[in-house]
Amino acid sequence: MGRSFDVKPLPGGVGAEVIGLDLDRPIDEETSRALNEVWLDAAIVLFRGMGTSSERQLRLSRCFGELEVHPVESIRLEGTPEIINLAQKKGDRQQMTFRFDGEPIVGRIPWHTDLIYTPTPNRGAILRMVEKPAEGGQTGWIDTAAAYDALPDETKKRIEGLEARFDFIWNLEEMRFGRKWNIELEDRGNVDYPEFPDVAHPLVWTHPISGRKSLCLSTFHLLDMVDMDKEEGDALLAELVDHTTDGRFTYVHDWEVSDMVLWDNWRTMHMAFGAAPGFDRVVHRTTMKGEHQTGRLL
Ligand code: SIN
Repeated sequence: MGRSFDVKPLPGGVGAEVIGLDLDRPIDEETSRALNEVWLDAAIVLFRGMGTSSERQLRLSRCFGELEVHPVESIRLEGTPEIINLAQKKGDRQQMTFRFDGEPIVGRIPWHTDLIYTPTPNRGAILRMVEKPAEGGQTGWIDTAAAYDALPDETKKRIEGLEARFDFIWNLEEMRFGRKWNIELEDRGNVDYPEFPDVAHPLVWTHPISGRKSLCLSTFHLLDMVDMDKEEGDALLAELVDHTTDGRFTYVHDWEVSDMVLWDNWRTMHMAFGAAPGFDRVVHRTTMKGEHQTGRLL
């Protein structure tokens, strides 16, 4: 029997779009298996306009594994703890504003892999657009396996077995790599962030299901190389970050309300572009747990 949905590559060839999936009814085992194959193959999967309710988002998310309940209670969606409510609302003090080359922007989160500041980053997530801002608010993804594949063989050999150090950073002014803008903190808001110990991860990850290799860079949290001269390590990381973020391995989604995007957190980085202060934006997110430990506490 054929698949009960169609698949086409996203523009630019990074990621795929699933078309014609019926989310009004329970997803049968065969469809669930086929969706998991698409996810494993494409890493970034768009379900355009299919997320018209939390029920649909949960139904789809549960095909891809056990869902995580976020430890921060205040961002859980009331009555549905598996969904986190990422809301940017006018005048909300739970927001920070930074100036990027002088332009104030709320909600920008540069390229990152979720939970990279722990030894066990989660498997993946689905983001659903609930309220879209009139301008901005895009999300981008980078296929870090495609970035690895495109490295010269010499570089692949050089980085095998090496580790980088990561930390939980909230202040974008402290970002060391991939800074494409001059960044200044404009308004700290009244957000409290927890502390995390530093973590080391291998620069090259091997996907536990597909066996594909990818680059682990999470540039927002990237500090330096473990056991390497600082200058040499910084030069290597800058080279790898430039290669990975040069646009060839990137898909940027211009959201419409009810779009959903699924990603494989073990093979991607993503970035929230943010929006100008004064625009409302609401996204709902589910998170798939990960049992695959890639890092170690330092
Ligand atoms: C996230 O990093 O999970 C949120 C991305 C977004 O809000 O666009």
